[in-house]
Amino acid sequence: MEFAVEVEILARVRHKNLLSLRGYCAEGQERLIVYDYMPNLSLLSHLHGQHSAECLLDWNRRMNIAIGSAEGIAYLHHHATPHIIHRDIKASNVLLDADFQAQVADFGFAKLIPDGATHVTTRVKGTLGYLAPEYAMLGKASESCDVYSFGILLLELASGKKPIEKLSPAVKRTVTDWALPLVCESKFSELADPRLNGEYVEEELNRVFRVALICAHSRPEKRPNMLEVLELLKGESKEKLSELENDEMFKSPQPMDYNDGTSQAEDSSEFISEEKDSKRELEEIEPEKAQGS
Ligand SMILES: Nc1ncnc2c1ncn2[C@@H]1O[C@H](COP(=O)(O)OP(=O)(O)OP(=O)(O)O)[C@@H](O)[C@H]1O
Ligand SMILES: [Mg+2]
Repeated sequence: MEFAVEVEILARVRHKNLLSLRGYCAEGQERLIVYDYMPNLSLLSHLHGQHSAECLLDWNRRMNIAIGSAEGIAYLHHHATPHIIHRDIKASNVLLDADFQAQVADFGFAKLIPDGATHVTTRVKGTLGYLAPEYAMLGKASESCDVYSFGILLLELASGKKPIEKLSPAVKRTVTDWALPLVCESKFSELADPRLNGEYVEEELNRVFRVALICAHSRPEKRPNMLEVLELLKGESKEKLSELENDEMFKSPQPMDYNDGTSQAEDSSEFISEEKDSKRELEEIEPEKAQGS
């Protein structure tokens, strides 16, 4: 099923920041999808994996990756017809080409959003640490769930931290809970990935963290859409930037809008693919049936 979804979605999308389909094979039991090989692998490999010691991601590259991946997701949400939600935005699904340009990959969990629908209620799929609370708890999937995951991705990109950090075997802390008090106090040198060696544009770093935290807001109505995210990241609207700067969430140094569920947090590498209450699926706006999933 994931294979069919991925091929169908890939056939619909063409954008410089989305990894496109080269070809596929579905013969007998064989299932194969062919993509271009991305020589710089994934963002994950640079932040936490095999390339992490090499420090190839300077600030300029990180800004380009943030904007490029936002453009890819904005295309899915606002320009593809019907609109598409990705549902698995995370560091291992942002690949990097030879020029370190972002290519968003892995559309196996993507959903098409019919015209006029605000969300679809569906089985929860995705990766812990990146899941919007209303999606993880109620199975409500909408564009704003991708915005939430993108916020976590931005925090990871700028800080070099994982979405959920193990402080001790029993205590875990989310990157949002870690970042919010530091952003409130403008502690940029503590926020920036130490591998940047202090080489970053402070104004951009400040912007990235604030955009990231508003994207990862626990209340979906507070999150911007991806077009607004792009505007903010590029610093195109002074008015929106100052609104963001003065948002109430940055007034208090306490992470009041976030769950303090650090100790309940699961390992971010864990993968969810569970069925929610089947009754809940009946509440949905019927698009699932149309897709036969
Ligand atoms: N087209 C590609 N070019 C180069 N490396 C790739 C490509 N596609 C995937 N990879 C690498 O393979 C790794 C594994 O990708 P894969 O999508 O199978 O798993 P994942 O992203 O870790 O988890 P998930 O199955 O949830 O997406 C990625 O982190 C990336 O480094
Ligand atoms: Mg992947």
